[in-house]
Amino acid sequence: MADQAFVTLATNDSYSRGAMVLGMSLRNHNTSKKLVVLIGQQVSEPCQSVLKRIYDEVRVVDVLESGDTAHLAMMKRPDLGVTFTKLHCWTLTHYSKCVFMDADTLVLSNIDELFDREELSAAPDPGWPDCFNSGVFVFCPSMETYGKLLQYCTEHGSFDGGDQGVLNGFFNTWATADISKHLPFIYNLSSIAIYTYLPAFKQYGGNAKVVHFLGKTKPWSYTFDPKAKKITGSVHEATEHPTFLMDWWTLYSSAVVPMLQEQYGEKPFHSGCVERFALTLDDLRILCPKHLKKFQYCDMLTFESDQGENFSSLAQELQPELSSEERKEKWEQGQADYMGMDSFDNIKRKLDSFLK
Ligand code: UDP
Ligand code: GLC
Ligand code: MN
Repeated sequence: MADQAFVTLATNDSYSRGAMVLGMSLRNHNTSKKLVVLIGQQVSEPCQSVLKRIYDEVRVVDVLESGDTAHLAMMKRPDLGVTFTKLHCWTLTHYSKCVFMDADTLVLSNIDELFDREELSAAPDPGWPDCFNSGVFVFCPSMETYGKLLQYCTEHGSFDGGDQGVLNGFFNTWATADISKHLPFIYNLSSIAIYTYLPAFKQYGGNAKVVHFLGKTKPWSYTFDPKAKKITGSVHEATEHPTFLMDWWTLYSSAVVPMLQEQYGEKPFHSGCVERFALTLDDLRILCPKHLKKFQYCDMLTFESDQGENFSSLAQELQPELSSEERKEKWEQGQADYMGMDSFDNIKRKLDSFLK
C-alpha cells in the first residue's frame, strides 16, 4: 500500500552504509511498501545520492541528542544519544502505518506481513525481555504522539540514554499487552543471542527473517576480501555469526559498493573491501609515525588499490619483486613472508624511501 512504509535512520556515513544494505535487502525480497530513510545533515553528498537510488524518500531531519552521558555510559555506548533522532519517525504522517528498522538490520525474507500488526508492536530485547527492542517496531505516525513523546523525554528522560529507554517508558504497557504486539524473535534476531543461547539459535535461527547486528561492532566495522570471501577484523565476533555477516558483506560488496564507486569517482573513499593490499593503520603508526598525515584517509583500517595513486604506488613499492604471481597471491592470502622479504625491517625501509 502506498501509505505504508519501512523507515530507517542514518545520522552519518557509516550508518548510511547500513541503511543502503537494509534498503537493498528489502527490495531484493520484493517489498510492496515504500522505503524511507531519515538522515542527518552530516551525511555526505555521495552517500545521499546512493540512498536516493535505493529509497523512495530521503528526508533530512534535525539530529536530536539525549545528552544523557550517565545512562549511556552504563551501556558503554556513548554514541547512542543521537538515537533520540528516531523519534522523528512519528512525523511521517503521509503514511498511516510504518515499520521502523535500525540501520544495522538485514532482511532475509519478505516481512510485509508486519503491517498487519498494530502500534506498538516489537520483539523482546535479548538483554531484558520485558522490554522491547527498538531496532524493529511497528508504529503509526502522528503529530500528536510525536508531541507526547518529546514531552515524555523532557519530563522523564530515558533510562538508557537512547530511544529504547524512552519508547519503553512511553509504551509501558507493551509487556502486558496483547500477544499480537509481541513480535516473534525471528523478526529481530539480535546477533548477541547467538552466543548467549547457542542451542536455541541452532534450533530456530534458520527461521530468522531479520537479523540485527546489535552492539558496538557493526558489519561495516570489519573488512572484507570479496575474492577470498573472507571477513577480517574482530575475528572472535566475526565467527559468532559468520553467515549473517557474510550475507551483509555479500550484498554490500556486490550491490552497494558499485553505486558508491560511481558516486565517489576519483575521490578516495573506504568501501571496507580489501583489494590486494592490507596493512592496518596501526601497522602504519608503528612503521612510520612521522608520516601519519599522509595516511589520513586510511581510517577504515585497510587501504585499497582504488584509493588513489599514493596507495597503489606504495603497494608496488612494498612489493618490488612481485614479478612472481605466486608471491603476490601469497600476500593476498595473508601469507606474507614475514621473516624474509616482507619482514618488518624490510617494509619499514621501503616505506621510508617511498615517503622521502
Ligand atoms: N544511529 C545513527 N547514528 C548513530 C548511532 C545510531 O543513525 O551514530 C541509528 C541507526 O539507525 C542505528 C540506530 O540508530 O541502527 C540504533 O543504534 P545502534 O544500532 O548502533 O544501537 P544497537 O542496536 O547496537 O543498540
Ligand atoms: C538498543 C536498540 C537500539 C537503540 C539503543 C538505544 O539496544 O537496539 O535500537 O537505539 O538500544 O536506546
Ligand atoms: Mn541496532
